[in-house]
Amino acid sequence: MRKEVVLITGANGEIGHGLISYLSEIDKTHILALDVMPIDEELRPKCERFIQGDILDNMLLGRLVAEYEIRAIYHLASILSTKAEYNPETAHKVNVEGTLNLLRLAVEQAGWQGKPVKFLYPSSIAAYGLPSLLIKNEAGKVKEEEWCNPTTMYGCNKLYCEHLGRYYTKHYRQLAAEGTPSGIDFRAIRFPGLISAITTPTGGTSDYGPEMLHHAAMGIPYKCFVRPDTRLPFMAMPDAIKSLLMLENAPRKALTKLVYNVTSFNPSAQEFFEIVIKAFPEARITFEPDIARQGIVDSWPADVNDEAAKNDWGWKPDYGEEKAFKDYLIPAVRARYA
Ligand code: SER
Repeated sequence: MRKEVVLITGANGEIGHGLISYLSEIDKTHILALDVMPIDEELRPKCERFIQGDILDNMLLGRLVAEYEIRAIYHLASILSTKAEYNPETAHKVNVEGTLNLLRLAVEQAGWQGKPVKFLYPSSIAAYGLPSLLIKNEAGKVKEEEWCNPTTMYGCNKLYCEHLGRYYTKHYRQLAAEGTPSGIDFRAIRFPGLISAITTPTGGTSDYGPEMLHHAAMGIPYKCFVRPDTRLPFMAMPDAIKSLLMLENAPRKALTKLVYNVTSFNPSAQEFFEIVIKAFPEARITFEPDIARQGIVDSWPADVNDEAAKNDWGWKPDYGEEKAFKDYLIPAVRARYA
């Protein structure tokens, strides 16, 4: 008998940390964790097995199919938006070919098991691309089907992988004599900027938020790379984990979409600064906009409409702006760097 597991790629990343803790402690799930980087020691005992390896290594993925019964895949591995611009072709390989490899693995698994395999995919507000700051400021809460003209490689990759998920779920091998459903049950969430108290992001463009907070707590000066008036939607990491778990558990029948927006609050960089400086009055934060990175943030929506997630699977964040900072972020970063 092969052991039933949940596969998490990018396990050592920001979302992976929270997800592994939750699934292992509360859900008692057996976790097969994969990451190109070594996994943090504290996560190791929470996983059935950790494999250091690349999602582009098909031999490795093939061996996983042989050894485990994979009930669900959380495919978190990805090269984020800023990093991707330094080597767009490599980002494409990891973000798109890597996802394709995991989709293929899921098809094989579903075939062996004779039941659907859930494929949870974190997409991003980077899938949007608003053509100008004026339009961004007038667009209001952007819906899933609006403004899908991303300007970054990462955004293009995320949007295309959403399409791949739809193809595998609904149209796979549509010309085959006897329709052969792939067995993939793809579910995606377009995340806003995420803020975690226990990890800092690497290579994103919404990072100015979490970086401001972590630098302030560490007592290190920080140059914010966007203008004070810059506005993006954000969410605290526990809510990101919660939304993934809620979407995984939602009955398929209830889902009217394959891709859902979720959000919680959307401070301007100036408002973010004011909250941080109130908690850490000694913090040395200056605004020194980087024109190119500013351009990326200006193409992302100031807010998103998450009505579909609310209606279809009861989405509601636990952490609004005040609670996120007061009850989670500030005490936890304080404790972390004390
Ligand atoms: N937070 C991510 C980034 O900035 C977007 O998903 O790249």
